[in-house]
Amino acid sequence: MNNLLRHYAETLEALASQDLLRKLPAAAQAEPLARRMDFSGNDYLGLASRQELVDAAQEAGRLYGAGSTGSRLLSGNTPLHEAFEARIAQDKGSEAALIFTSGYQANAACIAALLDQHTLGSEPLVFADRLNHASMHLGCALAEARQVRYRHLDLEHLAELLEKHKADKRPKFILSETVFGMDGDRADVVALQELSLAHGALLYLDEAHATGLFGPRGYGLTEALDLAPTTFVMGTLSKAVGVSGGYVACARVLRDYIVNKAGGFIFSTAPSPLVVGAALRAWEMLPGLSAQREQLQENAAWLRASLGLAGFNTGTSSTHIVPVILGDADRTLRAKARLAELGITVSAVRPPTVPQGTSRLRLGLSAAHSREDLAALVEAMKGL
Ligand SMILES: Cc1ncc(COP(=O)(O)O)c(C=O)c1O
Repeated sequence: MNNLLRHYAETLEALASQDLLRKLPAAAQAEPLARRMDFSGNDYLGLASRQELVDAAQEAGRLYGAGSTGSRLLSGNTPLHEAFEARIAQDKGSEAALIFTSGYQANAACIAALLDQHTLGSEPLVFADRLNHASMHLGCALAEARQVRYRHLDLEHLAELLEKHKADKRPKFILSETVFGMDGDRADVVALQELSLAHGALLYLDEAHATGLFGPRGYGLTEALDLAPTTFVMGTLSKAVGVSGGYVACARVLRDYIVNKAGGFIFSTAPSPLVVGAALRAWEMLPGLSAQREQLQENAAWLRASLGLAGFNTGTSSTHIVPVILGDADRTLRAKARLAELGITVSAVRPPTVPQGTSRLRLGLSAAHSREDLAALVEAMKGL
């Protein structure tokens, strides 16, 4: 093999030897049974395949075309993008909002811009939950900002660290997910905002796994929060909203700053009208899906209890994301393969996505799953 290519091949070989090699799963099955017993996705409300969304995409395409043709700052801005942002701001209770092509891009672009040392006049001091998503770390890395990690969800630890750095004059930031994607547990957003205000810090919250699922009308754990101008909320349109993309809801000055300074917004083509049309339709449907939200959380509680009785460790989950922590990567892969033989699809999550020794099956529940589906899953798990 060519010498240069050998580096990449050797990296893959090393991953394989530690059971950490990633491979694309077989293309998703279209059959109803396979879909029903699929716990590997994030389509928590079953919206991804709803006809209303497909129709809305078609209508948006008819009006604005399939592609947005350029960055929002050049040719890609449409009334649809602006209407969606106005709606997001209204529902999140923020002054302004902005959408992105993906949640990953939103985090990387916004965090990097917010932590920019030229803008701040000094290095930022970033306090981050230890289990934050990779895209949040990327934002910090792009800004070359060192993170002070606090123990997962441990706000006493965060408060201690903030206290310790009280006299430090550097601009402070706190970064956290609201529902954690790999553990299914929740941050106390009220306490986080209080802490951020007490210490003059900007609070950045990622609602990727909460959007559509929590809050009085389904707009996330921050929906009921009286957002401070220094609380910056991000979320995705790719999980419960069922389409793709990311959004941020924040003070107008921060939105205008992102439009001017975030490379991932400025130098990237605006989201396609097809995607925006479908996501806006889904967003409008969220308040009407309270019964599905309730059922989903009841189902999740039942599943956690049943798995607990069967001796499985579901960690600190209190939501529709239920990890089954098996510890060892090899054991996790074998469990996933065994379930696949029984027609059940789950994700095997291994380091570096989760910490060493906490490899797990990640069960993502959907409103489309019935109690019978979950009972069949528990029976299959018992046989592992
Ligand atoms: C917490 C969190 N933030 C951001 C993202 C990225 O969102 P997207 O998939 O829309 O790029 C994810 C996706 O897994 C996530 O779990």
